[in-house]
Amino acid sequence: MNDFTFHSPTEFIFGRGVEQRAGECMVRCGCRKVLLISGGGSARRSGLLGRVERSLADAGVACVALEGIRPNPTDDKVREGIRLGRLAGTDGLLAVGGGSVIDTAKAIAAGLRYDGDFWDFFAGRATVADALPVGVVLTIPAAGSEGSGNSVITLASTRQKLSLRTPYALRPRFALMNPELTLTLPTWQTACGITDMLAHIMERYFTNTPATTVTDRVGEGLMRAIVEEGRRVAARPDDYDARANLMWAGTLAHNGLCGTGCEEDWASHFMEHEVSALYDVSHGAGLAVIFPAWLQWMAAHHAAKVAQWAERVWDVAPGPSAEAEALEGVRRFRAFLAEIGMPLTFSQLGIAAPDIAALVDGLHRNKGEHVGNYVRLTRCDTEEIFRLAL
Ligand code: NZQ
Ligand code: ZN
Repeated sequence: MNDFTFHSPTEFIFGRGVEQRAGECMVRCGCRKVLLISGGGSARRSGLLGRVERSLADAGVACVALEGIRPNPTDDKVREGIRLGRLAGTDGLLAVGGGSVIDTAKAIAAGLRYDGDFWDFFAGRATVADALPVGVVLTIPAAGSEGSGNSVITLASTRQKLSLRTPYALRPRFALMNPELTLTLPTWQTACGITDMLAHIMERYFTNTPATTVTDRVGEGLMRAIVEEGRRVAARPDDYDARANLMWAGTLAHNGLCGTGCEEDWASHFMEHEVSALYDVSHGAGLAVIFPAWLQWMAAHHAAKVAQWAERVWDVAPGPSAEAEALEGVRRFRAFLAEIGMPLTFSQLGIAAPDIAALVDGLHRNKGEHVGNYVRLTRCDTEEIFRLAL
């Protein structure tokens, strides 16, 4: 087991009606002029945004709205938010939505405390030393941004989708998590979220670090719970307890707990970011195509941990070889993804002939010669994995 620091300072307030506490929470963060950020309309239509606005007004918090953040958010909305925030003298941000809205809020929070171009942080030209406080009202369990220090933004002019990873500065101060808010999610978005949270655990689980028994077991238990509750929600979308379990699982999958003491991988995520940078694809759906391809490649090249995952998460019986066990695990994983309605191939995503050369070029330009740690993948390897996803 490696040495580690586990820092998850977000206050998670969980249960029915907790969005009513938005005003009180912003005041506790010392904020009186809030930039209220939301997506393409679901929060407005459901009445959630109205309730949040009332809660802010009741607490004496003024707010300026930035609406219309789209999935796979781009830099233009971050720039608009920084302009609005400067004009209004914003002292805090409240994101009402999922990963795309929260990530935009985080980028604005960093940009408002910086004189240069906020993209410097994403391009690695500057480090976030300070940021305004960010609060969250979560509406979709998926990206885990409510508990992570990361923000993922696409620079529209170059179609570069890059993740900014900060250990401290961008962790939300609080996250209000009402599972009832997720009852309006379309089946497709629920399934994308399930896929993403499984992927967040797997990026950490597939490690060569020895003696990570506790972290392995935490991840395995969570993965099993997500599969179980995912099936329950697919059968009964209005099952509050299943929705609640999925919501909490999404946070634990990505707040760092599942990576304690391990060297993490992240190759599948970086490969997926190339796909959703170029094509209009939900992050979770891209992962449903790429992660099984990555696992299939690993079964042939470094099967040990994949075989353990197959046994402990997918109940595969010990077989004639680690590779055979691993492949059976991948088969069951793909069957689960298909069961919840996820695509398994690029063509199902409507990407007829993915430009693999462009994906590989972008990946290695953004992430360097080698990608991932479980196996350090070369250009040749990542090209093979993209081809397995065809
Ligand atoms: O925009 P609206 O109208 O709100 O609709 C959204 C959006 O179309 C809809 N939605 C959300 N909550 C809803 C709802 N519809 C009905 N009822 C509700 N309660 O769902 C759609 C997807 O929303 P989005 O925020 O894009 O989803 P998600 O949370 O999956 O975020 C994806 C983004 O997060 C990044 C991804 O790359 C992607 O850009 N990630 C961020 C991470 C982080 N910051 O730590 C880690 C992840 O690995 C990921 O890369
Ligand atoms: Zn993800």
